[in-house]
Parts: sequence; C-alpha cells; structure tokens
Amino acid sequence: MLRTHTCGELSKKDIGKEVTLCGWVHRRRDHGELIFIDIRDAYGLTQLIFDPKKDRSMHKKVHELKSEYVIQVKGIVQERPRGTINPKLSTGEIELLAGGLDILNPSLTPPFEVDKKLEISEETKLKYRYIDLRGSGMQRNMRLRHKINSSIRGFLERENFVEIETPFLTRSTPEGARDYLVPSRLNTGKFYALPQSPQLFKQILMVSGFDRYFQIARCFRDEDLRKDRQPEFTQLDVEMSFVDEEDIFGLSENLLKKIFKDVAGIEIPVPFPRLKYSEAMEKFGTDKPDTRGTKHAGENNYSFLWITDFPLFKYNKEEKRWESEHHPFTACKEEDVNLLDGKDLGRIRARSYDLVVNGAEIASGSIRIHKREVQEKIFKTIGLDKKDAARRFGFLLEAFKYGAPPHGGIAFGLDRFVTIFTKSNSIRDVIAFPKTQKAVCPMTNAPSDIDDKQLKELHIKKAK
Ligand code: AMO
Repeated sequence: MLRTHTCGELSKKDIGKEVTLCGWVHRRRDHGELIFIDIRDAYGLTQLIFDPKKDRSMHKKVHELKSEYVIQVKGIVQERPRGTINPKLSTGEIELLAGGLDILNPSLTPPFEVDKKLEISEETKLKYRYIDLRGSGMQRNMRLRHKINSSIRGFLERENFVEIETPFLTRSTPEGARDYLVPSRLNTGKFYALPQSPQLFKQILMVSGFDRYFQIARCFRDEDLRKDRQPEFTQLDVEMSFVDEEDIFGLSENLLKKIFKDVAGIEIPVPFPRLKYSEAMEKFGTDKPDTRGTKHAGENNYSFLWITDFPLFKYNKEEKRWESEHHPFTACKEEDVNLLDGKDLGRIRARSYDLVVNGAEIASGSIRIHKREVQEKIFKTIGLDKKDAARRFGFLLEAFKYGAPPHGGIAFGLDRFVTIFTKSNSIRDVIAFPKTQKAVCPMTNAPSDIDDKQLKELHIKKAK
C-alpha cells in the first residue's frame, strides 16, 4: 500500500506515530513560511503542515502544489495547538507535520472546487462528473446506495430468493414508453429492444419453477424525462409463485423495514396503511398522495402508503381504445371477471398495487394472469388481434400452455427510493453517471454520431 492510513482516520491516539497518507490537495493556506494543506481522500480530510525550518528541500515542491494534485506525504502526527482544533472534522484534533512529499500526479485547475457549495450548472457538473463524484455528498450517496443494495441482497437471500440476470438484448416489453432499439448485424434489418423491465422474463422464470426470483435490473425507457426519471434506471425486480397480494405486501414491508434498520438505524412502522385508488382520487385528487401529517401517515419522515384496487383499463380518448392501466399481464379481481365481457370496462378492478412514499411512486406490481385464455382475452380487449398478440407475445402464450403457476410480483424504482432515502434533490444525485433532461451524457457525449462503416455493416442508411 502507498499509505498507512486514510485521511479520515487519524486521531489523538495516533500522536507521535510516523504515518503515510495519500490523497488530493483540497485546500492550501500560506501563513508566512508555514504552509497548511488539507489532504482529502474518500474518508475525510487531514491537515498537513509544511515547515521550511524543518526541511528546506521539500519547500520547492510544496510551492508547486495546487488544488487536486495527487500527493503522498510522510510525517509525524502531532496535537493541534489550542485554539486551532476543528470539532467538525474527525481528524480535527491532530495535524501531520510533513517530513516527505511526493507528487504522484499534478492536476489542471478543476472547473469547480470539490465540496464548494457554489451554483454550478448541471451540464458542467456532469461533464466533469469525476470531480463532482469526489465531493462528500456524492461519495455519501454512492456509498449509501451500495449499502442499500447489500441490505436488499442479504434480506432476499435469507428469504430464499434467487438472483437471476435476464437479457438486455431482447424484444419489446410494453411498459408504456418507447423502446430503445439496437440493430442486429447478423440479422439484417432486425432490431433488438432494450428491456423496459424484465417483466416477461420474470414471469417465464415462474413457469420455469424458480418460485422466488429477484434482480437488481437495469431498465431502459425512451420517454420524456423529469426530475425523477432517467432513460436508464434500476429496478429491484421481484416475482413469486403461489402468492397473493398479502404475501407481496408483507415481503415488501419487511424488506423496507430491514433496509431502514440496516442503513439508517431507523425503525419504520409496518404494516403500511392502504388506500383504494378511488378513495385516493376522492380525498387527495391523485394516486400518489403525500400523506405526511395526515391520518394515513405512519411517520417519521417517511410516509409509506399502498394504493390498491386500480382500474384494470383506462380509456385512451385520442386512440379511442381501452389500454392497460398497469400492464396487460395484470390479473383482475375475481368478482370483476364477468365484466370483461361487458361494455363498462372502466369498472373492472385490477389486482395491482403501487407503493407511495411522501408523494412519490417507488414501487408497482400486480398479481398476474397465468391462464392463456384470459391473457388472450386481455390482449383482444386492448386492441391486439390474435395475429398481433401471437407475433409480440407468442412466447409467453406458448409458455402458459405448459403449467404456469399462479404468480405475482413487484418492482421498486431503486434510484427513486435512494433519492428519497438520501433526501436528495434529484434522481441524478444518486446515479454515478446519469443523463441530462435531454437524455445526453455530457462527459462521454453520448449519444454520438457513428462511422459510415458501422452503419454499412448494419445495413442502415441515415434519412438525413
Ligand atoms: P413500473 O413501470 O411501474 O412497473 O416501474 C416500477 C418502478 O420503477 C420506477 N420507474 C422509474 N424510475 C426512474 N426512471 C424511470 N424512467 C422510471 N420508470 C419507472 C418507478 C416505478 O414505480 N414490470 C413492472 C413491475 C411489476 O409489475 O412487477 C414495472 O416495470 O419507481
């Protein structure tokens, strides 16, 4: 190791020790001949003192140091003089009297200072994301996100779930957005679609006998972006066989309870309150009410609420047809099955549910259709004729012929959850390399032009 300690580690008990630290030059203050430098790494800051009386040869090098230079410093830990103690820093009672300095790599002056709370444009922050990520806020968010992932994996492992990866190169699964398409070189003129969610694969895994599946899955949706939406985002995707709504609610509540306990030491009360869709619309005028401070609140700062009994269909006035409110694989309430043959499709209630926290939808799921005839009927109702349904979802209908068990599941929007958990302003604050509102990555400049050679290989011609 190039270092003996991290920059957030040394304290009074280390006084007198000879140590080596590595990190970035955070701030520099010249006090006459004495030079003070704060060295920073992922764990914190340590104050270094360079005293030319002690070592003249180092002095030239110290004068070269600028913000964000990467350095290695050897020195002796000493107590800070009275009046210079910084109680805000974990290392605030000590400083390092430098005895040796190596510049491991110089740096250009960065476009913004790490951790300075200045108004920096989003564009600049994302273009120089590696500098933005050095800041304590982004470091904290990424580490919390990692802890949330570990807590999820630990919990689901103990609950007997199997983590299974499903394909990225697949065919369209409709979740209400446009698909991102990938041309196939080996199959001229054909396209893969990046998954909007692993919905159909997880249902097929149920037919395959994996009765408790999960995946921390990347999903891709070409839709208009908002503060809480990204074109690629992550879901905690869950599916179970031989279950009903109560099993999914119980599992989800215990999972969230565990995450809050593990990562924040907070006890959240379970079970979460529930509200029917119609009641939510009547009382709050929205199906994502922020119930903090109402009788539906749990507390604390996080007010979870299940919304249930959504309508199965909504009427699309422009296209003059019924479409699924959740997705077309959602089952309807047993009592409402006979309404499927009538005209009043808006009255049919779905076996679907959303989980809302502080007014944001963080998860959504349903009990699924597992009978082929019912699935075909739903496709017909939303305007897919037999041929279309067979072309797009033939593989699912085929799988349903071979003993599909009753099943259901849920998917949590992990980025949204972490945004709320970390009390961040935007979903972009919890994703290492997010896209802008215009679905662009200013650091890599994606999306980009491609070579004519690549287009030719794919048999694609640009229209202009
Ligand atoms: P749904 O489409 O509701 O359900 O997605 C589940 C959760 O994913 C999050 N989410 C998003 N987060 C960030 N950016 C986006 N563009 C975005 N879109 C959705 C939301 C949402 O609640 N297959 C079903 C789940 C199921 O039925 O099991 C599905 O994808 O928090």
